[in-house]
Amino acid sequence: MSIQGSNALYDRHPINAEQILGTLREAGKDLAHLVPADLRPHDQDHYGGEAAVLALAEAVGLKDGDRVIDICAGVGGPSRLLAERFPAARFIAFDLNGGRCRGAQRLNRLVGLQDAIHVVQGDAQSTPFADECLDVAMSQEAFLHIPDKLAVLSEAARMLRIGGQLGFTDLVAGPGLTAQDREALETGMEMRTLQSVDGYRAMFRTADLTLVRHDDLGSVWVEILTERLEMYRAMNAATRQTLGDGVHERYMDAYETFVGLVQAGRLGGGRFILRKG
Ligand SMILES: C[S@@+](CC[C@H](N)C(=O)[O-])C[C@H]1O[C@@H](n2cnc3c(N)ncnc32)[C@H](O)[C@@H]1O
Repeated sequence: MSIQGSNALYDRHPINAEQILGTLREAGKDLAHLVPADLRPHDQDHYGGEAAVLALAEAVGLKDGDRVIDICAGVGGPSRLLAERFPAARFIAFDLNGGRCRGAQRLNRLVGLQDAIHVVQGDAQSTPFADECLDVAMSQEAFLHIPDKLAVLSEAARMLRIGGQLGFTDLVAGPGLTAQDREALETGMEMRTLQSVDGYRAMFRTADLTLVRHDDLGSVWVEILTERLEMYRAMNAATRQTLGDGVHERYMDAYETFVGLVQAGRLGGGRFILRKG
């Protein structure tokens, strides 16, 4: 199944390095002297910001010195936050989209984290990394784009050492999600083959991952997504300028449909912690 659509979606996404740096410049920040915290209000492209990253890191047992991959890392916000907290840990920020990878590298350099975070571009369904080379794998709000979820789970399992853990958060299909809803989410937001919790449980068994913990995030995400929709509406002028009117309007229409499904409970969210072996 195609990954081109997701790539194109993130070429025109409102969260990008250019926009983040433009916002900071307008706020009077000196771009030659940025620290990671300056980026943080802008570079976390998942639900729940900094707190969600720290909760996931804690749940997955991330420790200083660990070898970590952030699968579908976006512009690298979660890796920068964790690299600051765990200075001896080493991170791979892995993403499909070239613009996002270049943006992550640029932001890492601007805040002096280029040695702690290795940015690599590629498809999470088939990565270039060795077997059992990592202690922790994590991912936030991204498996929803990946057509073959079993492939990405199996890749994570392959890269983890025995006893290593995968922690991820993702959208989950509720019982009321219709075929028409799925089609709208795929066309507008590149959300593909969304899984129910039971669908995921079956895949974990096939990928040889043991489910250690599952948290239902649905009610938390309704609130966050309702606010995020407002944030995108407020970013209107800046986003139109960067991406153009037509692109912005198509994105906003699709985003409104998506948030409506979450508000209606037909789409939910989950945090899953899994152990290899
Ligand atoms: C919503 S963003 C999440 C970014 C990041 N996890 C964060 O929390 O800031 C989803 C990311 O998944 C990436 N992505 C989508 N399909 C992918 C694939 N097959 N392999 C690797 N990355 C992918 C996109 O390029 C995008 O950057």
